[in-house]
Amino acid sequence: MRLATVIDGTAHAAALRRRAAEIAGRLRRETGTAPGLATVLVGDHPASQVYVRAKGRACAGAEVSAFDIRLPGDISEARLASEIEQLNRDERIDGVLVQLPLPRHIDPHRILGSIDPAKDVDGFHPLNVGRLWNGLPTMIPCTPQGCIRLLRTVHIDLSGRHAVVIGRSNIVGKPLVALLLQADCTVTVVHSKTRNADEICRSADIVIAAAGRPGMVKGDWIKPGATVIDVGINPAPTPEGRGRVVGDVDFLSVSEIAGAITPVPGGVGPMTIACLLLNTLLAACRRRGIADPAI
Ligand code: GUN
Repeated sequence: MRLATVIDGTAHAAALRRRAAEIAGRLRRETGTAPGLATVLVGDHPASQVYVRAKGRACAGAEVSAFDIRLPGDISEARLASEIEQLNRDERIDGVLVQLPLPRHIDPHRILGSIDPAKDVDGFHPLNVGRLWNGLPTMIPCTPQGCIRLLRTVHIDLSGRHAVVIGRSNIVGKPLVALLLQADCTVTVVHSKTRNADEICRSADIVIAAAGRPGMVKGDWIKPGATVIDVGINPAPTPEGRGRVVGDVDFLSVSEIAGAITPVPGGVGPMTIACLLLNTLLAACRRRGIADPAI
């Protein structure tokens, strides 16, 4: 029997997208310019194509101009860097997002470092990463931002809570650690070499699973009443061959023990895209010398 409250990421994301559209409208009225987001997709990675398409659709709904840049998978690193240079200089564009992963011959650090930090709506430029860890105003990476926003719907005060982050990626796990520390959580990171992941998770008030391992977190890993945020988006083809996604959390067993849980789909995924819009508007306001909007 399910005991946990299901956190509705789709509804929270819709509210954020409405707020984004309001801010975009205000910008247009006050400055006569529309905010613009450029997404750069290199090659034809199937999941990345889906994500980039979803980002373009979200822009249309929030009256943000979308610039959809598609480049061949065999493009050289230097050529890609020069394409990004052009986007950095383009006045119509407030945000530049290079979809990851990049082809293996391209160094993602060099490419992410070539994005103008003021247009870095992913928050992956080393300058913005440093600002995040120092607690300075920055761009907060979209997926971790979405996780924290969902957590705050359950916990008004995160102070002193034990949060366990499963996964240590630059995109999700590491920035989450910085954000949870800033919220005064006690933070433990569990990763592929951790020996007693289940035991550590059982001591957590909050578990955020971002390991990319379908169904890894089971009900007996969870302290009764804990909050569980599932970042996983793992493809799980059905016998009929239809695409389906599952999270890193075994929803059925965990929802019998947890106090609150995000579903997959409909949890963190839609929040990531809404937060990208918010970051684009933040970048647009900052580039026009307008104070950060309250969100
Ligand atoms: N690939 C998976 N997640 C992300 C993300 O948040 N940003 C970018 N740029 N690429 C990704």
